[in-house]
Amino acid sequence: LSAGLNRDSGSLLDWGKKQLRKAGIEDYATSAETLLGKVVKSTRSELLLNPQKLLNSEAIAEYKRLITERAKRVPLQYLIDYVEFYNVKIKCDPRALIPRPETEILVEIVIEKLAKFKSPKILDIGTGSGNIAITLAKNIAGCFVVAVDISTDALDLAKQNAVINDVTHSIEFEYGDIFDRGYIEGLGNFDCIVSNPPYVAESEKDQLQPEVLNFEPGIALFSTGDPLRFFRVITETAPRILKPGGLLAFESALGQAAAVAEMMSTEFTGAEIFKDLAGIDRVITGILAK
Ligand SMILES: C[S@@+](CC[C@H](N)C(=O)[O-])C[C@H]1O[C@@H](n2cnc3c(N)ncnc32)[C@H](O)[C@@H]1O
Repeated sequence: LSAGLNRDSGSLLDWGKKQLRKAGIEDYATSAETLLGKVVKSTRSELLLNPQKLLNSEAIAEYKRLITERAKRVPLQYLIDYVEFYNVKIKCDPRALIPRPETEILVEIVIEKLAKFKSPKILDIGTGSGNIAITLAKNIAGCFVVAVDISTDALDLAKQNAVINDVTHSIEFEYGDIFDRGYIEGLGNFDCIVSNPPYVAESEKDQLQPEVLNFEPGIALFSTGDPLRFFRVITETAPRILKPGGLLAFESALGQAAAVAEMMSTEFTGAEIFKDLAGIDRVITGILAK
């Protein structure tokens, strides 16, 4: 830390904001405040109300470390370790994708649509941090979720999240590849399949923020070759593992929803498309014809 810097939180905050603004971080103020809040274990509003609070040298060193990391574009969520997702807390680190607000919409729709199912059995494909599986387990009485991922790192994090949220009895985590149809078909019979699969085209790489491209796992982001290939394989496999009348629900990227709904139209009825808060067609659902 520069010589002569004051130890009060107000000066440290100003310093943190300046460093992050210089590094081109768009949300420099939120980042600087959130990281200082983490160090002194206070909320952002408590911090702003008490700019005179003094920090000891260990806390100052820790704040400096976090600001330096954030200036290198490490995502804020990885630095504060947790995100609020739907109505649960999800631990988050570079082992899995950071849960996004759009995915809360997918969860909300699935909860609503499964309300008429009794103790539904759900398959979550590409569970990542476990955010979808865990919120469904928390919010749907008597449900059981099989959560699959090809990343052992993500599965380790998801299992930790299930422990943190006390839902280990309602979720089974499985290592598996969605393109291994024999394996997927052996998983059994479900009332619902939900997936937020990798859906970013490789050609869109350079449009991603450095936080995403350099720090989130590529295996969670990119669909190599055909960007719709995950939707295609899941839609084709679903009729063999979904009960008639069962629900298929996807999250997709900008410009993909209509093609996914079209893909579903042969075996599924009543395909619906839902928008996210930015007005982008984001979630697609359909019911397996009886
Ligand atoms: C977009 S992330 C979604 C993570 C989490 N469900 C969420 O909503 O934040 C996609 C996930 O699919 C997993 N995945 C990628 N390829 C896969 C495959 N062939 N079979 C199963 N899972 C796969 C990735 O490891 C990643 O965790």
